[in-house]
Amino acid sequence: MVIITDATEADLDQIFQIETESFEDPYPYSLLRAYLFLANKLYLVAKQREKVVGYIIGIIQYGYRGHIVSIAVEPIYRKQGIGAKLLNEIEERFKLNGARYSYLEVNTNNLSAISFYRANGYLIMYVRKNYYGRDKHAFVMVKNLYYKYLD
Ligand SMILES: CC(C)(COP(=O)(O)OP(=O)(O)OC[C@H]1O[C@@H](n2cnc3c(N)ncnc32)[C@H](O)[C@@H]1OP(=O)(O)O)[C@@H](O)C(=O)NCCC(=O)NCCS
Repeated sequence: MVIITDATEADLDQIFQIETESFEDPYPYSLLRAYLFLANKLYLVAKQREKVVGYIIGIIQYGYRGHIVSIAVEPIYRKQGIGAKLLNEIEERFKLNGARYSYLEVNTNNLSAISFYRANGYLIMYVRKNYYGRDKHAFVMVKNLYYKYLD
């Protein structure tokens, strides 16, 4: 059984391990650690028994929108609904903090993440060119947290 809980300093090594397995340009350990202080109650881990199998970081901007800073699930635990659980929980917390919508940037080449977000109610809004570096573009995807999607 997977539980979603607040991330702590003790989880950082495992979070960093997942990060390096998941991204070509992983966030440095120091940044993942700094978010423990910046993303109060919006830094969550998925745990199976005591093991960290995924994490998500969010922040509230301007009091009305939630930004997904990062999400990753350990490769062998993917496609079991853990990513959706992390996303649902952070969206609930965004709402509790007054956010009306949630948004994120995703690499235009990251087709599995794009389809994951679409399946969870996010729509592509526009492209941010060179967001990840030269010729590495991002889609900005947005979800209205108060609108029930039919499809
Ligand atoms: C994006 C990511 C977090 C999704 O995590 P996940 O735990 O695999 O997500 P879910 O299991 O909730 O959903 C993923 C897919 O599995 C499917 N799925 C969910 N439960 C399933 C199950 N029990 N059996 C089979 N498939 C299932 C979902 O339908 C979804 O399919 P889709 O992508 O075709 O729509 C994960 O792929 C990841 O860590 N990627 C690398 C890091 C990354 O790119 N992060 C996003 C950066 S913007």
